[in-house]
Formats: sequence, structure tokens, C-alpha cells
Amino acid sequence: MPISVKKLSENIGAEVEGVDIALGVDDKSFQQLRDAFQKYAVLVFHDQDITDEQQIAFSKGFGSIEPSLPNDPLGHGRPVFYISNVDENDLIIPPEDTRTLYQSGNMLWHSDGSFRRVPLRASLLSAKVVPPAGGDTEYASLRTAYSSLPEPKKAELEGLIAKHSMAHSRAQIAPNLLSKEFQDEIPPADHLIVRTISETGEKVLFVGSYASHIIGWPIDKGRSLLKKLLEWSTQPQFVYRHSWCVNDLVMWDNRYCLHRGRPWDSGSQKRIMHRTTLAGDGPTVG
Ligand code: OGA
Ligand code: MN
Repeated sequence: MPISVKKLSENIGAEVEGVDIALGVDDKSFQQLRDAFQKYAVLVFHDQDITDEQQIAFSKGFGSIEPSLPNDPLGHGRPVFYISNVDENDLIIPPEDTRTLYQSGNMLWHSDGSFRRVPLRASLLSAKVVPPAGGDTEYASLRTAYSSLPEPKKAELEGLIAKHSMAHSRAQIAPNLLSKEFQDEIPPADHLIVRTISETGEKVLFVGSYASHIIGWPIDKGRSLLKKLLEWSTQPQFVYRHSWCVNDLVMWDNRYCLHRGRPWDSGSQKRIMHRTTLAGDGPTVG
């Protein structure tokens, strides 16, 4: 079956048909998918009943896998992250549990791994169990966020560097959500706000809830600019909202978009997603 790609919203996202991830994807198809990924930043595949191994093999068609960090509470060093409100005994984790609060950081707009010196390139998320309502994921185009800025604003932002940190993100949810071991593993990282994508030379606005302040500026002034830029970047016309079905796989380029999860009745409905991530190609600041 030939691959077809259908645009999903004005500025970001496309739905792909004609791919069966479980059967394996040939080189020619991977090339088509890589081109579509570059163009749309978010690709949606339906009806993919896949194992973790099949998800890993598919992910490798787009780059090299970056396993989770050893102390990451969702991955424990493995290549697959379990984004889930269900524990090892198949019981729902209560909303007030620290594990739930840690994961609710995913509901703040972010780019995966932007707290790392080499931020993650892309993420692939497959839906195993979805709630009957809610639990959508939204994607906002950082490409459009940059290109639609007025020219003087672009010039003003050029060269500014933001400090990104996991601690800053989780402090917006509740105190003490990070283990000492995990915190030691992820020191804050510096990134240019106006980021140039290596293979295309395109510029994007690299913001999100991990961005804490601007280097060399008073904290409050930097934070207020970052807040404004985040609001700008996530205006409704820059966003695609995905409502999940079981066996959907959605992949996104963390350089070209921000994403956030949306709430659902997590105290009584299960939601289980498996994520793989692809390594970035280098730091944004020398
Ligand atoms: C992620 C993430 C949001 C969601 O997997 O990186 O942020 O809706 N997920 O599960
Ligand atoms: Mn995420």
C-alpha cells in the first residue's frame, strides 16, 4: 500500500496511512517518512498494534535511540519510558501520589529533554490504554512561533541564552518531586532561545516550561520574557490537538514543537503510553 500523508492543521502535524510498523518499514518508505517528519514535525499513525521491540526498530529509522537516564522515574535507564497512571500491580496510582505529580509535569508545555545539554531530537509515543474522555496531547509549532514574530523582536531575541532545568519545571507542580540521584544526573543546561536547526538552517523559538531564566538578566525579567514567549508560541492557531485511540503512535520533533498532555479522570481511568526517544545532534550553545 502506498504511503499517504494528510495535513492535520494549519501549522503542524500530518496523518500517515499505508504504514504497518509491526511488519517493518523499507528504506524507501523510511525516506518518505523522514521527509514528511521534517515538513510536518508531528506524524500520526493509527492502528499500530506493536511491541516495544517493534517501536524501537521503527524509531531507529529516524535516528539513534537515547535511552532514559538511570534515575529517570519513568524509564530507569531503559530505552522505553512508561507514561502511565498504573502501577506494577495494575492498580491506578492516586492523583496525590508523588509519581502522579511528577508525571503531571508533562501537562506543562515542554520539549522533551530540553533540560539536557544535548536536548532530545524526537519522541515516539504509542497508546496502549486510553481513557474514554480527555488525556489528549497538544503540539505547538516552534517554527511558526519564530517565523511569525515581528522582525525587530527576532533581532532582540537573537543570541539570548536561557537556562533550562527539570527542577524549575517540577517546582511549578509541587516541592520535592525529584530524587537527589536524579537531580544529580541532570544539571541545568543552557540553550539559545533562537535556535538554528543544523540540517536546514531554519530558526525556531526554543522555549517551554523547563526554561527558567535568561543568562545575564535579572531572574524576574528573564522569567517574564520567557512566559510571554511561551504564550506566544502556544496560541491556538499554532497548535494541533491529538485525541488518542488505542494503538495510535504519534512522533514529534522536539526541536520544531512543544507539547503538553491534557487532564483526564486519572483517579479512575487508566492511561498507558510507551515512549521512545531519539538523541539530539549536539548542544545549542558551544
Ligand atoms: C511525553 C509527554 C504527554 C502525554 O510522553 O513526553 O509529554 O500526553 N506526554 O502523555
Ligand atoms: Mn514530553
